[in-house]
Amino acid sequence: MKILVVGSGGREHAIAKKLLESDGVEQVFVAPGNDGMTLDDLDLVDIAISEHSKMIDFAKENDIAWSFIGPDDALAAGIVDDFNQAGLKAFGPTRLAAELEWSKDFAKEIMVKYGVPTAAYGTFSDFEKAKAYIEAQGAPIVVKADGLALGKGVVVAETVEQAVEAAHEMLLDNKFGDSGARVVIEEFLDGEEFSLFAFVNGDKFYIMPTAQDHKRAYDGDKGPNTGGMGAYAPVPQLSQSVVDTAVEAIVKPVLKGMIAEGRPYLGILYCGLILTADGPKVIEFNARFGDPETQIILPRLTSNFAQNISDILDGKDPSITWTDGGVTLGVVVASNGYPLAYDKGVKLPAKTDGDIITYYAGAKFAENGRALLSNGGRVYMLVTTADTVQAAQDIIYNQLKTQNTEGLFYRTDIGSKALKD
Ligand code: AMP
Ligand code: GLY
Repeated sequence: MKILVVGSGGREHAIAKKLLESDGVEQVFVAPGNDGMTLDDLDLVDIAISEHSKMIDFAKENDIAWSFIGPDDALAAGIVDDFNQAGLKAFGPTRLAAELEWSKDFAKEIMVKYGVPTAAYGTFSDFEKAKAYIEAQGAPIVVKADGLALGKGVVVAETVEQAVEAAHEMLLDNKFGDSGARVVIEEFLDGEEFSLFAFVNGDKFYIMPTAQDHKRAYDGDKGPNTGGMGAYAPVPQLSQSVVDTAVEAIVKPVLKGMIAEGRPYLGILYCGLILTADGPKVIEFNARFGDPETQIILPRLTSNFAQNISDILDGKDPSITWTDGGVTLGVVVASNGYPLAYDKGVKLPAKTDGDIITYYAGAKFAENGRALLSNGGRVYMLVTTADTVQAAQDIIYNQLKTQNTEGLFYRTDIGSKALKD
């Protein structure tokens, strides 16, 4: 079987690598991918994510069994609808089902209609009304651009002034273009943040181990929000009963709701949750795998990943199994300056072997040679599995100390929240 993975980051590297390791898979293509992936025998295809018809032609010409769609913008642009219309299978939600991610207002409406616990909110396109709502609610309060904004459209405001300024930037100054033409303003939720992922087909779903991302750029959750600087799974401080509650109160009703709305969901559902004093509540849904969460969840999968996805696509019950011991932890290495301006072209350390996996995101071969150079904000990620969070941290941070990371940086406290309680 040959498979196409759409996307180019560390998430897609982890998906494609796991697929290639599955018995029965001969070849995995990644479009457009990044050069680092070729070190794991993945084949790159020079087609941009937005070029759906070229992707479809490629899939037909190369006898692709099905495609796995990584990124949110491809889903929002209807890549799955286009593949299906061309008679091809693709793992991911249709454009209408992916609206759970691409419109925060739509996600809120679904949650309210189907009784899914989430922060109280208002949606506004008029600045004066948004301002009045913020002033009436007080701070802290959270202002979110309605549409996709590369993870940057959320402002957790500590004061009323900050919240009003954020609403002004989105509604009047067009900071996020159309994505910010409407804003969702919501109650600040206090508690431990975690991600819960499920493979989904309609009302059938298969929960993955819990994961915790680290979104801020610097140690101690300081600095600007990024795509994610590191993660670990499972999260030991979350009990099974929290997961069970999240499944009953969140995953089941939202999937039933999507069917009732005529938008049955197929693909990965990503629930961004906060464990409040009243139980888990939703801060966002994403219609795809997380990055960097995928890189620490998939190494724990012990079943045949490609067969699992084939089965889900065929409406069969997949037999999905996970490692139950220990913890898988990964640290992202990013370009100095990320998530703002950064330089490219820094020479990268050699790929690790054995118990430490290197996943590449922004990596490119030098013009005349096989040296890998940095070519993006997040550059690579080291991942390992060990008995405890502490042991996994020791392995990764000792490895990083042996690498020349000049021009690059990483957080030194990934997983430390699990050690505090
Ligand atoms: P998002 O882009 O929706 O993932 O939001 C970015 C970050 O903002 C999240 O990871 C949370 O840390 C924070 N956040 C979003 N919504 C809320 C909320 N209602 N209460 C507290 N923090 C929030
Ligand atoms: N790790 C955050 C995201 O994938 O949205």
